[in-house]
Amino acid sequence: MTQNLAATSRPDAAPTAQDGAASRDWWRNAVIYQVYPRSFADSNGDGMGDLPGVRSRLPYLRDLGVDAVWLSPFYASPQADAGYDVADYRAVDPMFGTLLDADGLIRDAHELGMRIIVDLVPNHSSDQHEWFQRALREGPGSALRERYHFRAGQGANGELPPNDWESIFGGPAWTRSQNPDGTPGEWYLHLFAPEQPDFNWDSPAVADEFRSILRFWLDMGVDGFRIDVAHGMVKAPGLPDIGGSEQLKLLGNDVMPFFDQDGVHEIYRSWRMILDEYPGERIGVAEAWTPTVQRTANYVRPDELHQAFNFQYLGTHWEAAALREVIDLSLDSMRPVDAPTTWVLSNHDVTRHATRFANPPGGTQIRTAGDRELGLRRARAASLLMLALPGSAYLYQGEELGLPDVTDLPDEVRQDPSFFRASGQDGFRDGCRVPLPWSGTEAPYGFGPVAGGPSWLPQPAEWASLSVESQTGDPTSTLELYRSALAVRREHPALGGGTEVTWLDAPEGVLAFRRDSAEGSFVCYANTTAEPVRVAAPGQLLLASGDEPVVDGGEIVLASDSTSWWAV
Ligand code: NOJ
Repeated sequence: MTQNLAATSRPDAAPTAQDGAASRDWWRNAVIYQVYPRSFADSNGDGMGDLPGVRSRLPYLRDLGVDAVWLSPFYASPQADAGYDVADYRAVDPMFGTLLDADGLIRDAHELGMRIIVDLVPNHSSDQHEWFQRALREGPGSALRERYHFRAGQGANGELPPNDWESIFGGPAWTRSQNPDGTPGEWYLHLFAPEQPDFNWDSPAVADEFRSILRFWLDMGVDGFRIDVAHGMVKAPGLPDIGGSEQLKLLGNDVMPFFDQDGVHEIYRSWRMILDEYPGERIGVAEAWTPTVQRTANYVRPDELHQAFNFQYLGTHWEAAALREVIDLSLDSMRPVDAPTTWVLSNHDVTRHATRFANPPGGTQIRTAGDRELGLRRARAASLLMLALPGSAYLYQGEELGLPDVTDLPDEVRQDPSFFRASGQDGFRDGCRVPLPWSGTEAPYGFGPVAGGPSWLPQPAEWASLSVESQTGDPTSTLELYRSALAVRREHPALGGGTEVTWLDAPEGVLAFRRDSAEGSFVCYANTTAEPVRVAAPGQLLLASGDEPVVDGGEIVLASDSTSWWAV
């Protein structure tokens, strides 16, 4: 079905990471691949992915053609929220390996010409973090309590939470602690699970500690940080009530007294100075949910972070007018701050786009498999559209295989903490976290070393045909489509970075734009309709996500739900 007319080979390794001039502005057009370590590759057969597993698969990522790898957390953690509850920011959890493994992974990636971005979780720690444990042990009045948000409760006996904030995972955002003598004590704030107490960023000790953690990983050689809940660290003074009981959603963008407070920007200014002390342009990427794209742009002002995730784009359905609007808005809002626009379709918190687009528009948490064929067709088209846009693109592991969400996981295997805390709200993130299929006909399909061995979430039987092995060399496969797309993106002079697209006239439901460079131009057509559409033939076909467009006189027929790339 796909025409991969471009060379699939990738040139030799990209300029060595961190090598002065070669790295200038590398992040402005980088394709960054998210590895979710639990589910990428399991080297020791315990059913859980690990760092040696990731390391062994780096050549796959190099051949895929990505510029950098972002690893979700692999730090010491009780895993109450799959590692986003960190007990020790300078240690690797034994389930993922050792610091030596992390060091080897960073070195190998650099040798292969790829950069490594690690996750930093500064909004909250694990409740098993030494500071929090000491704060509990030492009781009210302990200096350690200043590093978190401990407060007396309301009500005659302090039996009510200090304010009306709710946890994003459901239930109150406060849990009552016990005094050292076992009596009910102060409450502590946790915007997420109770096992994730929020740091108090007014405490100088917290700010110092994170500057030191940044340096620790920069000294280890990482090329940047993805900053978890980057909009959450500073809370409105006095922790005022919200006054309503509307439950907050993950990736929600309502204005809240604990999100997107102006004070966070001071933190990023101080971090930027640290990043800039190191050679090779080390970057910060904000996971910031803000009410508008313009507010997101504040995080990437020249003296703050380098990139911010474009969740408005991720939340847009496969529909031409809506896509055009969000593309324009995204490019326009980043221009004044001179930051690259980023694009993302999937990550470990949302339903995979192959499943979102298999269903009617309905947000980022979808629980039904929908029309799988339609979903895959649109997902391939959407990915090709995204990779043609100016700026930096984020891929989530497995999207290059066209993986859908697993929507029928039995409740007993689920681990997403929000599944257990809320009335199901956003609690279905396990569906996009199922371990990758690499090879073979029997689960875990090469995820672990032994056929028939375990995987922490079960993989569907039909994933044998979606494995890397089964798709490699098949020109119609989604994997080969991604490989070709990344190779063309790297080679075509008009693709990659930039800030402009020139929209072309196109029939309703079709997006058409041109990108120009001194060495050649490029046209992208995306037909988001269910019907074939005739348009003017722009030049020479480079790549198509669906059936090869039929040339008919000076016109071409674009297949339904397809994107094609043209050299002009
Ligand atoms: C955002 C992360 O992506 C998500 O997985 C996590 O649950 C929350 N932050 C809390 O750390």
